[in-house]
Amino acid sequence: EELRIFAPATVANLSCGFDVLGCCLENVGDEMLIRKNDLREIRITKITGQELPLESDRNVAGVAVQALLKEARSTQGFDIEIDKKIKAGSGIGSSAASSAGAVYAVNKLLGEPFSKNELIKFAMEGERLASGNAHADNVAPALLGGFSLVKSYEPLEVLKLPSPPELRMVILHPLIEIKTRDSRAVIRQNVSLQKAIFQWGNLAALVSSLYTEDYALLGRSLKDEIIEPFRSILIPHFDKLKAIALENGALGFGISGSGPSVFAMCKGEENAENVRGKLEGFYADKNIAFELHLSKIN
Ligand code: HSE
Repeated sequence: EELRIFAPATVANLSCGFDVLGCCLENVGDEMLIRKNDLREIRITKITGQELPLESDRNVAGVAVQALLKEARSTQGFDIEIDKKIKAGSGIGSSAASSAGAVYAVNKLLGEPFSKNELIKFAMEGERLASGNAHADNVAPALLGGFSLVKSYEPLEVLKLPSPPELRMVILHPLIEIKTRDSRAVIRQNVSLQKAIFQWGNLAALVSSLYTEDYALLGRSLKDEIIEPFRSILIPHFDKLKAIALENGALGFGISGSGPSVFAMCKGEENAENVRGKLEGFYADKNIAFELHLSKIN
C-alpha cells in the first residue's frame, strides 16, 4: 500500500500575522511517496533535490510521523521518499511541506484515525526540529489549504479562512539561505502598545477582507511594523522591491515566512504577471540570483 502526494509550499505571517496566519500555494511544492513496510520502522529511503538527513529522527518528516504513530499507538512501519522542489531555507515552508505531507499520507494509509486539523500538532513536531520552535503557520495551511489562522497555541486551535478567488501570489526568492532559527533571533521580544494596536487592527481587517472579498481592504491590511523592520535588512533591496510591487498595482508586499523569499499579493493573473516581470527585471539588472513563482492560493 502506497500513496503519492503533492506537498504544497506555504507563505506564513502575511505581514501582520506573525506566527498565526499563513496560506497555501497551489502549484509550488514537493512530491512524496509513502509506502507501508513490514519492519515497524520509519525509513526515509530517498531524498532528491536537496541534501537533507536520511535518519528518521533527524528528518522533519520522520519526526512528525513518529509523533502521529505514538498517539495512534501504532507500530506500523513506513518508507518515505521525498522529491524536494522547495529549497530549504527559502521561506516558503520547505520543512512544513515535508512534515505536513508525511503525516497526511500516513494518516490516509492508516485509515484516517485523525482529522486534518488533528494532524497539525504532529506536523508541528517537524517544525520544532527544523527551527527550534513549533509554529503552525506553515503546516496548518499546508494541511487545510487556503488561508489558516492559529487562534491560539495553548490549547492549539486553528481556523480555516476563505480564500478570495482572484488572489495571486508572486514569490521572489533571492538565492541566499536564511535559517528560520537565525531570523527569529533578530526579532525583539517586546512590543509597544502602540505597535500592538496597529498590528491587531490590521490582522482583524485582513481576516474580515477574506470573508467579504474586499481586495482593497486586504491590501491596506498587509502591513507589519513589528517584524519586517528587522528582518527586511537581511533581504537584498527589500525597500526597493516593495516600492516596485506597490507602484505596479500589487495589493501588498512583505516577507514570506522568515525570508529570504518575499511575496507580492495581487488581484488577478494579469496584474500578477506584470508585477512578476518588474521584480524579475530589477533583480536581473542587479545581477542577483533568484527564483520566481506565480501561484493561486488554494
Ligand atoms: N512564523 C514563522 C517565522 C514562520 O516567521 O519565524 C517560519 O517560516
